[in-house]
Amino acid sequence: MVQRASRPDVAPAATPDGPSGVGRRTVLRLGGATGVLALLAGCGADGPVVTLTPSPSGSTWTPPGGPLAFPDGFRWGAATSAFQVEGSTTVDGRGVSIWDTFAARRGTVRGGATGDPAADHYRLWEQDLDLMVELGLGAYRFSVAWPRIQPTGSGPVEQRGVDFYARLVDGLLERGIHPAATLYHWDLPQPLQDAGGWEVRDTAARFAEYAAIMVDALGDREIDWLTINEPKTTAYVGHRYGAHAPGLHDVDAAVRAVHHQLLGHGLAVQAFRASGAVGGIGAALNLQPVYAAVSDPDAEPDAATLAAVRCTDAVENRLFLDPVLLGTYPDDAIGSEPGQLPTGPETLAEVVRDGDLAIISTPADHLAVQYYGVTAVDSTGATAVQYPTTDASWQQVHAEGLHETLTRLRDEYPAIPLLITENGIPDRGAEGTLQDVERESYLRDHLVQAARAVQDGVDLRGYYAWSLLDNFEWGEGYEQRWGLVHVDFETQVRTPKDSTRWFRTVIAANAVEA
Ligand code: GCO
Repeated sequence: MVQRASRPDVAPAATPDGPSGVGRRTVLRLGGATGVLALLAGCGADGPVVTLTPSPSGSTWTPPGGPLAFPDGFRWGAATSAFQVEGSTTVDGRGVSIWDTFAARRGTVRGGATGDPAADHYRLWEQDLDLMVELGLGAYRFSVAWPRIQPTGSGPVEQRGVDFYARLVDGLLERGIHPAATLYHWDLPQPLQDAGGWEVRDTAARFAEYAAIMVDALGDREIDWLTINEPKTTAYVGHRYGAHAPGLHDVDAAVRAVHHQLLGHGLAVQAFRASGAVGGIGAALNLQPVYAAVSDPDAEPDAATLAAVRCTDAVENRLFLDPVLLGTYPDDAIGSEPGQLPTGPETLAEVVRDGDLAIISTPADHLAVQYYGVTAVDSTGATAVQYPTTDASWQQVHAEGLHETLTRLRDEYPAIPLLITENGIPDRGAEGTLQDVERESYLRDHLVQAARAVQDGVDLRGYYAWSLLDNFEWGEGYEQRWGLVHVDFETQVRTPKDSTRWFRTVIAANAVEA
């Protein structure tokens, strides 16, 4: 089966170089070309200055010899999501989600895989909680499957679903593990999709109702709630590129999905406040620095490339950060310039009503950052590869980009506590391995940059590696293994990979050595 890259968050390059359409070329990373940026026209030239990071070789920062400490009370965890680990998709009254439907369609998921059995976590959850204790984890991020709570996306509550998550949370708390619960990790109840999904406003209202059910049910437990996981991925990969559920190829649909997910986020924050629940709530956004790609390493990128960088940054980052944290939409994300979402600004204007941005920017308690790497674009807005990729072809690994992302949030947005709720790489090769040397070094490099950001005054409160377990990796099925723990999907035997030994020592020390 021919697969496209499952997460082309950035527009695939218009080159025939690979399945993801990503072209390979010689590129240059720049240090602060703000003078050139000032000349930009047409692509948000008046907006914030896009950071063009120095190349690693040009970096002036050298890690210190000793350990880098994290703040007291720092949360050390690992993350999963319901559809990726639970299995038992027809048990206890669970309704059908868009991922059940999408995966059942021929040619959508590698190997024809579905959400069953996944890691069978719905049945093996207690064993998994014990495993977390063994690994020394102090926190666990999971997601609630909306179709287990409201099988049709609205109306009556399926108590067996609520009880499952109550047991899970209580089991965590009994073991001294802090829960972080994502309300929406992509498994929209199918009847809501049939009624228009995230393209329609009503879905945001239904999401807020469901959020209220959950925060009412578990509101007496100290939980870090996350509203919508990666609205960008759902909008672009699910609605524009069709590689995730619901499998649409429609940029206008993607724009509408951006707004309605963000509206759902804001309404859920309001529902949380109204409920008087303890704990906190915030959105989970995947962010990445965008760099300029040029063919001559000795040349400065031209104005056209810098304009494309700025537009791509708007599409990748500011279209989500600005509404949530500032209550505004950037004016350079949509249009016909390279790097923009190619449609008219009226597509967004038509769905934004008076008061929506105030709802979306309702003050939250934290912002969850999901960081996997960076991207680069050329003057046409096409993606260029300038850092090592992994088996996930969309992933360009550059740990300093995490520091850059965190300090950018500190500098350009109002103060808000930050959590890193996803960060990781897949094993090399579909078979998986227990000797995950690359994972250990990836996590170490990123934790060093996270600690550096803390030293630089970033208010970072926690770090969750992606993922606790090997699981259903969306369009890649079971062939990309992102777990700290290996799962044999035939027997459901769990075996911690080597990196967990190192991770345990980091957690125990609350510090990382470069
Ligand atoms: C995401 C999701 C996770 C993925 C992980 C690896 O960020 O896409 O939140 O569900 O599995 O990122 O691709």
